[in-house]
Amino acid sequence: MTGTDPVLIFIDRAERGGEPPLFRQVSADEPQISVFDLGITRGDGIFESIGVFARWPLQLAPHIERLNRSARMLDLPELDDQAVETAITMAVEALPPLPEILVKIVVTRGLESASGLTTWVIASDNGDYSRERTVGLRAITLDRGYRSDVAETSPWLLQGAKTLSYAVNKAVLREAARRGAEEVIFISSDDYVLEGPASSLIVREGNTLITPVTSIGILPGTTQQAVFSHAAKHGLDTEYARLRTADLARADALWMVSSGRLVVPLNRVNETPVPVDAALTQKLLADLLAGEE
Ligand SMILES: Cc1ncc(COP(=O)(O)O)c(C=O)c1O
Repeated sequence: MTGTDPVLIFIDRAERGGEPPLFRQVSADEPQISVFDLGITRGDGIFESIGVFARWPLQLAPHIERLNRSARMLDLPELDDQAVETAITMAVEALPPLPEILVKIVVTRGLESASGLTTWVIASDNGDYSRERTVGLRAITLDRGYRSDVAETSPWLLQGAKTLSYAVNKAVLREAARRGAEEVIFISSDDYVLEGPASSLIVREGNTLITPVTSIGILPGTTQQAVFSHAAKHGLDTEYARLRTADLARADALWMVSSGRLVVPLNRVNETPVPVDAALTQKLLADLLAGEE
């Protein structure tokens, strides 16, 4: 392994309300997961990715809350908040002081033949996203194939849960690369703008920041919510709305926001150039790094 070695911590008995949890720090370089784990054989599990800046995990409580929301959506037992927080702190403290760390917590349904979750936390170098945050990304829109009412009509499709089944979310990025782009905006089959494969969309129209309503089967973004909580001090209003693909072409600026890359502007959507609002991008980044409102 090159660079800084990731730190891996397993949490045995991570379920809420059970026996006390057990934390085991093990090598991230050696095999640790059974080939019979349902996370591997079925992608059956959930995860969260948390950005850690200057050793401070951003939006930690909302991430743990969303992890348990995903658990409920998948009929998994809820996790002990304190156990998760302890493992995250242990993992971050075991890494050398890096400017940006990404912590992932992964929870699978466990072994095919036994009960009990498989849970681990891995902390690693987040890398350098300064180029993306400055220059921005070219995005394409892609049909997700579900209607905007999918969460209501077909909750078993788990739209809006952060599941381990992210093969589609990776496939769309390869499709974007084939079309000369680096990012994707999912669109519902009835033409509502949704989200990216690993980020939320924020649109600026004049003095208003707009993001798609989460009831249309998308993940409630912790970064988007943090950005909105700081908007007023920049004289910006915020709005949750049902946006159409055509609305993107009229935007004054667009961003994809997420816990690792934080705030990344889009400079093109399909064939349409989009203005990059560099000044506001820097303000939004600074807000996030400064912490909660
Ligand atoms: C599908 C999807 N939407 C949105 C987000 C953004 O969420 P957050 O800002 O909490 O990282 C993610 C994060 O990975 C995601 O996977």
